[in-house]
Amino acid sequence: MTSLPDRYAVAGNPVAHSRSPAIHAAFAAQTGQALVYERLLCPLDGFKAAIEAFAASGARGCNVTVPFKFEAHALAARLSDRARLAGAVNTLRFDAAGDGAWFGDNTDGAGLVRDIEINAGRSLAGRRVLLLGAGGASAGVLGSLIAARPAAIRVANRSVGKAQTLVDGHRTWAAAHDLTPDSLSAVSLDACGEGHDVLINGTSASLAGAGVPVASGVLAPGALAVDMMYGAAAAPFLAWAASQGATGRDGLGMLVEQAAEAFFVWRGVRPETAAVLASLRSELG
Ligand code: ATR
Repeated sequence: MTSLPDRYAVAGNPVAHSRSPAIHAAFAAQTGQALVYERLLCPLDGFKAAIEAFAASGARGCNVTVPFKFEAHALAARLSDRARLAGAVNTLRFDAAGDGAWFGDNTDGAGLVRDIEINAGRSLAGRRVLLLGAGGASAGVLGSLIAARPAAIRVANRSVGKAQTLVDGHRTWAAAHDLTPDSLSAVSLDACGEGHDVLINGTSASLAGAGVPVASGVLAPGALAVDMMYGAAAAPFLAWAASQGATGRDGLGMLVEQAAEAFFVWRGVRPETAAVLASLRSELG
Protein backbone atom coordinates (compact mmCIF):
# COMPACT_ATOMS: atom_id res chain seq x y z
CA MET A 1 0.00 0.00 0.00
CA THR A 2 1.43 3.40 -0.93
CA SER A 3 0.71 6.24 1.47
CA LEU A 4 -0.35 9.66 0.26
CA PRO A 5 2.12 12.54 0.59
CA ASP A 6 1.69 14.85 3.59
CA ARG A 7 -0.16 18.07 2.81
CA TYR A 8 0.79 21.65 3.64
CA ALA A 9 -0.31 25.04 2.32
CA VAL A 10 0.17 28.76 2.50
CA ALA A 11 -2.94 30.32 4.03
CA GLY A 12 -3.68 33.97 3.36
CA ASN A 13 -5.74 36.48 1.42
CA PRO A 14 -4.54 37.01 -1.24
CA VAL A 15 -2.34 33.95 -1.93
CA ALA A 16 -2.37 33.68 -5.73
CA HIS A 17 0.95 35.55 -5.93
CA SER A 18 2.69 33.39 -3.33
CA ARG A 19 6.01 31.78 -4.27
CA SER A 20 5.85 29.40 -1.32
CA PRO A 21 4.39 26.41 -3.26
CA ALA A 22 7.30 26.49 -5.73
CA ILE A 23 9.86 26.92 -2.95
CA HIS A 24 8.52 24.02 -0.89
CA ALA A 25 8.17 21.80 -3.97
CA ALA A 26 11.87 22.44 -4.66
CA PHE A 27 12.79 21.65 -1.02
CA ALA A 28 10.72 18.43 -1.11
CA ALA A 29 12.36 17.27 -4.34
CA GLN A 30 15.82 18.07 -3.02
CA THR A 31 15.38 16.30 0.35
CA GLY A 32 13.22 13.39 -0.89
CA GLN A 33 10.38 14.33 1.48
CA ALA A 34 6.93 13.12 0.34
CA LEU A 35 4.76 16.21 0.60
CA VAL A 36 2.51 18.48 -1.43
CA TYR A 37 2.10 22.18 -0.76
CA GLU A 38 -0.97 24.13 -1.88
CA ARG A 39 -2.46 27.61 -1.73
CA LEU A 40 -5.31 28.09 0.75
CA LEU A 41 -7.29 31.26 0.10
CA CYS A 42 -9.10 32.02 3.35
CA PRO A 43 -12.10 34.36 3.58
CA LEU A 44 -11.17 37.52 5.48
CA ASP A 45 -13.77 36.67 8.14
CA GLY A 46 -13.20 32.90 8.03
CA PHE A 47 -9.56 32.12 8.77
CA LYS A 48 -10.22 29.88 11.79
CA ALA A 49 -12.86 27.79 10.02
CA ALA A 50 -10.68 27.41 6.92
CA ILE A 51 -7.68 26.22 8.94
CA GLU A 52 -9.78 23.86 11.03
CA ALA A 53 -11.23 22.32 7.86
CA PHE A 54 -7.75 22.01 6.32
CA ALA A 55 -6.40 20.28 9.44
CA ALA A 56 -9.46 18.02 9.67
CA SER A 57 -8.83 16.89 6.10
CA GLY A 58 -5.58 15.34 7.25
CA ALA A 59 -3.15 18.16 6.41
CA ARG A 60 -0.02 18.44 8.57
CA GLY A 61 0.54 22.19 8.75
CA CYS A 62 0.55 25.52 6.98
CA ASN A 63 2.34 28.76 6.53
CA VAL A 64 0.31 31.85 7.32
CA THR A 65 0.62 35.14 5.53
CA VAL A 66 -1.10 38.52 5.39
CA PRO A 67 -3.46 39.33 7.06
CA PHE A 68 -3.78 36.30 9.35
CA LYS A 69 -0.51 36.05 11.31
CA PHE A 70 -2.08 37.51 14.45
CA GLU A 71 -5.12 35.22 14.25
CA ALA A 72 -2.80 32.25 13.78
CA HIS A 73 -0.99 33.29 16.95
CA ALA A 74 -4.30 33.16 18.82
CA LEU A 75 -5.13 29.73 17.34
CA ALA A 76 -1.93 27.97 18.41
CA ALA A 77 -2.10 26.12 21.70
CA ARG A 78 1.70 26.02 21.94
CA LEU A 79 4.08 28.74 20.81
CA SER A 80 7.81 28.96 20.24
CA ASP A 81 9.63 31.74 22.11
CA ARG A 82 10.11 33.63 18.87
CA ALA A 83 6.40 33.47 17.98
CA ARG A 84 5.44 34.62 21.48
CA LEU A 85 7.84 37.58 21.20
CA ALA A 86 6.58 38.49 17.73
CA GLY A 87 2.93 38.17 18.75
CA ALA A 88 2.45 36.60 15.33
CA VAL A 89 2.69 33.14 13.75
CA ASN A 90 3.74 32.34 10.18
CA THR A 91 4.03 28.56 10.64
CA LEU A 92 1.44 26.21 12.12
CA ARG A 93 2.14 22.52 12.70
CA PHE A 94 -0.91 20.34 13.30
CA ASP A 95 0.67 18.02 15.83
CA ALA A 96 -0.94 14.59 15.89
CA ALA A 97 1.03 13.29 18.85
CA GLY A 98 0.07 13.94 22.48
CA ASP A 99 -2.93 16.20 22.88
CA GLY A 100 -3.05 17.06 19.17
CA ALA A 101 -2.66 20.75 19.95
CA TRP A 102 -1.31 23.01 17.22
CA PHE A 103 2.20 24.41 17.47
CA GLY A 104 2.75 27.98 16.30
CA ASP A 105 6.13 29.33 15.26
CA ASN A 106 7.49 32.41 13.52
CA THR A 107 10.37 31.79 11.14
CA ASP A 108 10.55 35.28 9.59
CA GLY A 109 13.28 36.61 11.89
CA ALA A 110 15.46 33.51 11.58
CA GLY A 111 15.02 33.76 7.80
CA LEU A 112 16.09 37.40 7.73
CA VAL A 113 19.13 36.80 9.95
CA ARG A 114 20.24 33.78 7.93
CA ASP A 115 19.90 35.76 4.72
CA ILE A 116 22.00 38.61 6.10
CA GLU A 117 24.64 36.44 7.77
CA ILE A 118 24.94 33.48 5.40
CA ASN A 119 23.71 34.67 1.99
CA ALA A 120 24.92 38.27 2.21
CA GLY A 121 27.92 37.29 4.35
CA ARG A 122 27.49 40.07 6.95
CA SER A 123 27.72 39.12 10.60
CA LEU A 124 25.36 41.14 12.77
CA ALA A 125 27.38 40.65 15.96
CA GLY A 126 28.75 43.97 17.21
CA ARG A 127 27.02 45.95 14.41
CA ARG A 128 24.72 48.95 14.66
CA VAL A 129 21.30 48.07 13.27
CA LEU A 130 18.47 50.37 12.22
CA LEU A 131 15.04 48.74 11.82
CA LEU A 132 12.46 50.89 10.01
CA GLY A 133 8.82 50.27 10.92
CA ALA A 134 7.02 48.88 13.94
CA GLY A 135 4.18 46.93 12.33
CA GLY A 136 3.82 43.19 11.86
CA ALA A 137 6.86 42.81 9.62
CA SER A 138 9.21 44.44 12.12
CA ALA A 139 7.63 42.67 15.10
CA GLY A 140 8.31 39.36 13.36
CA VAL A 141 12.05 39.92 13.15
CA LEU A 142 13.15 42.04 16.13
CA GLY A 143 13.64 39.06 18.47
CA SER A 144 15.93 37.27 16.02
CA LEU A 145 17.90 40.46 15.34
CA ILE A 146 18.49 40.84 19.08
CA ALA A 147 19.56 37.19 19.35
CA ALA A 148 22.23 37.86 16.70
CA ARG A 149 23.91 40.11 19.33
CA PRO A 150 24.42 43.42 17.51
CA ALA A 151 26.00 46.31 19.42
CA ALA A 152 22.79 48.34 19.17
CA ILE A 153 19.37 48.31 17.56
CA ARG A 154 17.25 51.37 16.88
CA VAL A 155 13.63 50.87 15.89
CA ALA A 156 12.42 53.91 13.95
CA ASN A 157 8.75 54.46 13.15
CA ARG A 158 6.41 57.19 11.95
CA SER A 159 4.46 56.78 15.18
CA VAL A 160 7.20 56.54 17.82
CA GLY A 161 4.76 55.20 20.41
CA LYS A 162 4.34 52.02 18.38
CA ALA A 163 8.12 51.58 18.13
CA GLN A 164 8.38 52.14 21.89
CA THR A 165 5.75 49.46 22.57
CA LEU A 166 7.61 47.01 20.33
CA VAL A 167 10.93 47.76 22.03
CA ASP A 168 9.42 47.51 25.53
CA GLY A 169 8.04 44.07 24.70
CA HIS A 170 11.58 42.89 23.89
CA ARG A 171 13.38 44.27 27.00
CA THR A 172 13.68 40.99 28.87
CA TRP A 173 14.78 39.16 25.71
CA ALA A 174 17.35 41.87 25.02
CA ALA A 175 18.78 41.65 28.54
CA ALA A 176 19.07 37.87 28.15
CA HIS A 177 21.18 38.51 25.03
CA ASP A 178 23.46 41.08 26.69
CA LEU A 179 21.94 44.09 24.93
CA THR A 180 21.96 46.94 27.46
CA PRO A 181 18.77 49.03 27.85
CA ASP A 182 20.47 52.00 26.13
CA SER A 183 21.39 49.85 23.15
CA LEU A 184 17.79 49.04 22.25
CA SER A 185 15.81 52.17 21.54
CA ALA A 186 12.76 53.58 19.79
CA VAL A 187 13.18 56.74 17.71
CA SER A 188 11.20 58.79 15.23
CA LEU A 189 12.02 58.54 11.53
CA ASP A 190 13.59 62.01 11.52
CA ALA A 191 15.86 61.23 14.48
CA CYS A 192 17.49 57.96 13.46
CA GLY A 193 21.03 59.21 13.95
CA GLU A 194 23.97 58.16 11.80
CA GLY A 195 26.50 55.40 11.28
CA HIS A 196 24.32 52.31 11.00
CA ASP A 197 26.02 49.25 9.53
CA VAL A 198 22.78 47.47 8.64
CA LEU A 199 19.40 49.01 7.82
CA ILE A 200 16.30 46.85 7.50
CA ASN A 201 13.13 48.25 5.95
CA GLY A 202 10.03 46.76 7.56
CA THR A 203 7.70 49.60 6.57
CA SER A 204 5.06 49.34 3.89
CA ALA A 205 5.89 52.88 2.69
CA SER A 206 6.78 51.69 -0.82
CA LEU A 207 3.35 50.06 -1.24
CA ALA A 208 1.83 53.47 -0.55
CA GLY A 209 4.07 54.95 -3.25
CA ALA A 210 6.13 56.83 -0.64
CA GLY A 211 9.93 56.83 -0.77
CA VAL A 212 12.29 55.51 1.88
CA PRO A 213 11.16 57.44 4.95
CA VAL A 214 14.56 58.44 6.35
CA ALA A 215 17.06 61.18 5.59
CA SER A 216 20.38 60.65 3.85
CA GLY A 217 23.30 59.97 6.14
CA VAL A 218 21.83 57.33 8.43
CA LEU A 219 24.20 54.71 7.04
CA ALA A 220 27.87 54.06 7.71
CA PRO A 221 30.13 53.69 4.65
CA GLY A 222 29.72 50.24 3.10
CA ALA A 223 26.47 49.53 4.95
CA LEU A 224 24.02 46.80 4.01
CA ALA A 225 20.44 47.98 3.36
CA VAL A 226 17.80 45.23 3.26
CA ASP A 227 14.16 45.53 2.24
CA MET A 228 11.75 42.86 3.41
CA MET A 229 9.91 43.23 0.10
CA TYR A 230 10.97 41.89 -3.27
CA GLY A 231 10.10 42.36 -6.93
CA ALA A 232 8.75 45.72 -8.08
CA ALA A 233 7.87 46.73 -4.50
CA ALA A 234 11.55 46.70 -3.54
CA ALA A 235 12.80 48.72 -6.53
CA PRO A 236 12.54 52.23 -4.96
CA PHE A 237 14.34 51.02 -1.84
CA LEU A 238 17.15 49.40 -3.82
CA ALA A 239 17.59 52.60 -5.85
CA TRP A 240 17.78 54.60 -2.61
CA ALA A 241 20.35 52.16 -1.16
CA ALA A 242 22.53 52.58 -4.26
CA SER A 243 22.25 56.37 -3.98
CA GLN A 244 23.57 56.09 -0.40
CA GLY A 245 26.57 54.00 -1.48
CA ALA A 246 25.14 51.02 0.39
CA THR A 247 24.81 47.41 -0.71
CA GLY A 248 21.09 46.91 -1.34
CA ARG A 249 19.33 43.61 -0.84
CA ASP A 250 15.69 42.70 -1.43
CA GLY A 251 13.57 40.27 0.61
CA LEU A 252 13.81 37.28 -1.70
CA GLY A 253 16.55 35.64 0.37
CA MET A 254 14.51 36.14 3.54
CA LEU A 255 11.51 34.57 1.80
CA VAL A 256 13.46 31.44 0.89
CA GLU A 257 15.18 31.21 4.28
CA GLN A 258 11.97 31.58 6.32
CA ALA A 259 10.51 28.80 4.15
CA ALA A 260 13.53 26.57 4.83
CA GLU A 261 13.12 27.17 8.56
CA ALA A 262 9.40 26.26 8.35
CA PHE A 263 10.31 23.12 6.37
CA PHE A 264 12.67 22.20 9.22
CA VAL A 265 9.93 22.79 11.82
CA TRP A 266 7.61 20.42 9.95
CA ARG A 267 10.01 17.77 8.63
CA GLY A 268 13.11 17.93 10.87
CA VAL A 269 15.22 18.29 7.72
CA ARG A 270 16.99 21.49 6.69
CA PRO A 271 17.00 22.05 2.90
CA GLU A 272 19.80 23.77 1.01
CA THR A 273 18.64 27.21 -0.07
CA ALA A 274 21.28 28.60 -2.46
CA ALA A 275 20.05 26.92 -5.66
CA VAL A 276 16.39 27.61 -4.84
CA LEU A 277 17.13 31.29 -4.25
CA ALA A 278 19.18 31.53 -7.45
CA SER A 279 16.45 30.00 -9.61
CA LEU A 280 13.75 32.18 -8.03
CA ARG A 281 15.89 35.25 -8.65
CA SER A 282 16.42 34.37 -12.30
CA GLU A 283 12.68 33.68 -12.72
CA LEU A 284 11.86 37.13 -11.37
CA GLY A 285 14.46 38.67 -13.64
P1 ATR B 1 3.10 45.02 8.12
O1 ATR B 1 2.37 43.85 8.68
O2 ATR B 1 3.46 44.90 6.67
O3 ATR B 1 4.27 45.43 8.96
P2 ATR B 1 1.59 47.15 9.29
O4 ATR B 1 1.47 46.40 10.56
O5 ATR B 1 0.41 47.92 8.78
O6 ATR B 1 2.02 46.22 8.10
O7 ATR B 1 2.83 48.16 9.43
C1 ATR B 1 3.22 49.02 8.41
C2 ATR B 1 4.47 49.80 8.85
O8 ATR B 1 4.88 50.68 7.79
C3 ATR B 1 4.22 50.68 10.07
O9 ATR B 1 5.42 50.76 10.80
C4 ATR B 1 3.88 52.01 9.42
O10 ATR B 1 4.10 53.14 10.26
P3 ATR B 1 2.98 53.59 11.36
O11 ATR B 1 3.05 52.57 12.45
O12 ATR B 1 3.41 54.93 11.81
O13 ATR B 1 1.67 53.58 10.62
C5 ATR B 1 4.86 52.02 8.28
N1 ATR B 1 4.45 52.91 7.17
C6 ATR B 1 3.45 52.72 6.29
N2 ATR B 1 3.41 53.73 5.38
C7 ATR B 1 4.42 54.58 5.69
C8 ATR B 1 4.91 55.80 5.15
N3 ATR B 1 4.35 56.36 4.07
N4 ATR B 1 5.97 56.39 5.75
C9 ATR B 1 6.54 55.83 6.83
N5 ATR B 1 6.13 54.67 7.41
C10 ATR B 1 5.08 54.06 6.85
